[in-house]
Amino acid sequence: MDLFRKKDIAAFRLMAQQSGFTRNLTAMDLVMLGIGSVIGTGIFVLTGIGAALYAGPGISISFILSSVACAFAGLAYAEYASMVPVSGSAYAYTYTSLGEFVAFIVGWNLILEYTVTCSTVAAGWSAYVVGLLKAGGIHLPIAFSKVPAEGGIVNLPAIIVTMLLCLLLIHGTKESVTLNKILVIIKLCVIALFFILATPHVEISNWEPFLPFGYNGIVTGAAIVFFAYIGFDAVATSAEEAKNPSRNVPIGILGSLAICAVLYFFVALVLTGIVPYFELNTAEPVAFALRYIGYDIGSFIVAVGAICGITTVLLVLLYGQARIFFALSRDGMIPEKICKVHKVYHTPYLVTIGGCIIVSLIAGFTPINIIAELASIGTLFVFFIVGYGVLYLRIKQPEIKRGFKCPAIHFVAPMAMFTCGYLMYNLSIETCIRFLVWLAIGIIFYFCYSYKHSKLNEAADSSKKAGFE
Ligand code: ALA
Repeated sequence: MDLFRKKDIAAFRLMAQQSGFTRNLTAMDLVMLGIGSVIGTGIFVLTGIGAALYAGPGISISFILSSVACAFAGLAYAEYASMVPVSGSAYAYTYTSLGEFVAFIVGWNLILEYTVTCSTVAAGWSAYVVGLLKAGGIHLPIAFSKVPAEGGIVNLPAIIVTMLLCLLLIHGTKESVTLNKILVIIKLCVIALFFILATPHVEISNWEPFLPFGYNGIVTGAAIVFFAYIGFDAVATSAEEAKNPSRNVPIGILGSLAICAVLYFFVALVLTGIVPYFELNTAEPVAFALRYIGYDIGSFIVAVGAICGITTVLLVLLYGQARIFFALSRDGMIPEKICKVHKVYHTPYLVTIGGCIIVSLIAGFTPINIIAELASIGTLFVFFIVGYGVLYLRIKQPEIKRGFKCPAIHFVAPMAMFTCGYLMYNLSIETCIRFLVWLAIGIIFYFCYSYKHSKLNEAADSSKKAGFE
């Protein structure tokens, strides 16, 4: 068995040329795509819980710690993306450097990242919409707005939003990107409104003590709020639809990451500056904080903005999920028939529908909070491998043309591995066990199906039959 057979970068590039996608995304589109996929439930929900239960006002430092891990990983991603600008993202990069088995494991974890995150975000979207309708006097029946474990039958709003976005994604990437841009602008305006209203009300006394849970609180907080950064890597999955991907994809990844990190830090700082941290254990901390200082209408606007923000996260991550399924199926790792591109819309419609159905079923029927941390551990694992892989390729194949070269790679790549490994270590033991179970299922699937059906295996078989080996 050859578990470490590698796919040529040239072969990937050729496949990308033949994929049938239209290249129309600019650098600005990609930055917007990044912001679209990052700022959502993390900032609108997790900040409060992180401050109240884990880090106190020091949650702003937790956001910085998490962003440092993401920045190291983002730099490594950017170099890879500039070398292998294809839709498989980290899966494709790993295939060219560390071989098929590790690549499959990375792809398997990308599926976990996107699917679980989308389901969590769809459930968060539903909670915000149900809350807003309630505030307007419209009460949705619990039976159709909660999952069975919470006393309902099905979380229908979560399913409806996922399937509507599915239709939009099938219809065309450009249309989805346009909607994403509009919603991202609304989301950014709402965050600006929060700063304008809240900053004059900051009281230094609310930051004392700044670290009520000590240093450990900051690190645990960083592992929890890491979820808020999930999604910037989705920019890399759009490489086959980007103009000049070697240049624009790194700009998209690093630009969106930098903007989000700055916004997160200041939102967390202002939030804990206007409300004592121990009062922030609520599902809508940003809206709550504005009510706390007397801006009820501001709070309403922020809730609407949060819904827009969460919609863009769902949109971009569903898009990324389809591109990962597409890349895996094109290589024969999962059934190949599903990777067809629509003749009229030029989008991978079968994988988009399949992915959205899975997300709908999870969000509609399971208590998602239990598995939400799985998304973080899966993503951190992928970032760890990306850090290793990009360094490996720099040492083994320094001659490959790179549109973007990660600075100080011998420092940045090991730091990406160290910081991501450290954040994984700080997640709960239950999450680690669930992650290992997911990995075990993936490994069984690889040996029962993917190894045999892999395009590289078929190519090796044909050359054997033809007597070349
Ligand atoms: N980063 C995304 C969010 O916070 C997943 O919703």
